[in-house]
Amino acid sequence: MRAAAGHVADDDTHHVIPPMRLPFLDRRDEAGRLTALFKRRDGGLAVVYGRRRLGKSRLLLEVLPKRRGIYYIADDREASLQRRALAGEIGRLLPGFADVVYPDWEALLRRFWSEAPRGTVLAIDEFPSLVASAAELPSLLQKGVDQASGQRVYLVLSGSSQRLMHGLVLDRAAPLFGRAREILRIGPLPAGYIRQGLSLRDPVRAIESFAVWGGVPRY
Ligand SMILES: Nc1ncnc2c1ncn2[C@@H]1O[C@H](COP(=O)(O)OP(=O)(O)O)[C@@H](O)[C@H]1O
Ligand SMILES: [Mg+2]
Repeated sequence: MRAAAGHVADDDTHHVIPPMRLPFLDRRDEAGRLTALFKRRDGGLAVVYGRRRLGKSRLLLEVLPKRRGIYYIADDREASLQRRALAGEIGRLLPGFADVVYPDWEALLRRFWSEAPRGTVLAIDEFPSLVASAAELPSLLQKGVDQASGQRVYLVLSGSSQRLMHGLVLDRAAPLFGRAREILRIGPLPAGYIRQGLSLRDPVRAIESFAVWGGVPRY
């Protein structure tokens, strides 16, 4: 059963937090690195990893460009269903993209890279879940990233398991090894940020005034 409308109990803090309501706190470094990548003329790959509940998904959603951002969160379903779901997300940006059934990942990715307009950012969250049903994906993405190099299209892969993310992109033997232009390990927010965000109004405003990406710290 759901808690009171618009609220969920937060397991980590035992506070009641309205989801997505807190201002975006203290990820200036990570947000800045991603938004800088998205300005590069030659596109590129970023990798985001760190334990669950530390703010990877929130970070992605905050930095994705409003119009040209595509966010897909992978799950445990079989590959064909996930292709359809991802095609649906891509279809919001590329009309007609979701109107065909892709026989395999190669077909889907080939079309994506050939039609994605400049500035497109594709973020795949929980990437290891997707690879569980599509072991060929890392090497297909590697080919795509290499061939699209120079094109202004950006790929962000995110995952909670450090071990799996290592094996997929950070390990020497991994197909995507050496391709990432940014590798962000998301750690806990500095102590106090969440508490302040929850209980005190003025600190929230103070934080808001510089935490919004592009803002300048005042202290
Ligand atoms: N920088 C942040 N500022 C404010 N709230 C945040 C921040 N990062 C995460 N949160 C909140 O904390 C919760 C967990 O974050 P989430 O992005 O889902 O973590 P992850 O994807 O790493 O598991 C969410 O409710 C999210 O809105
Ligand atoms: Mg997440």
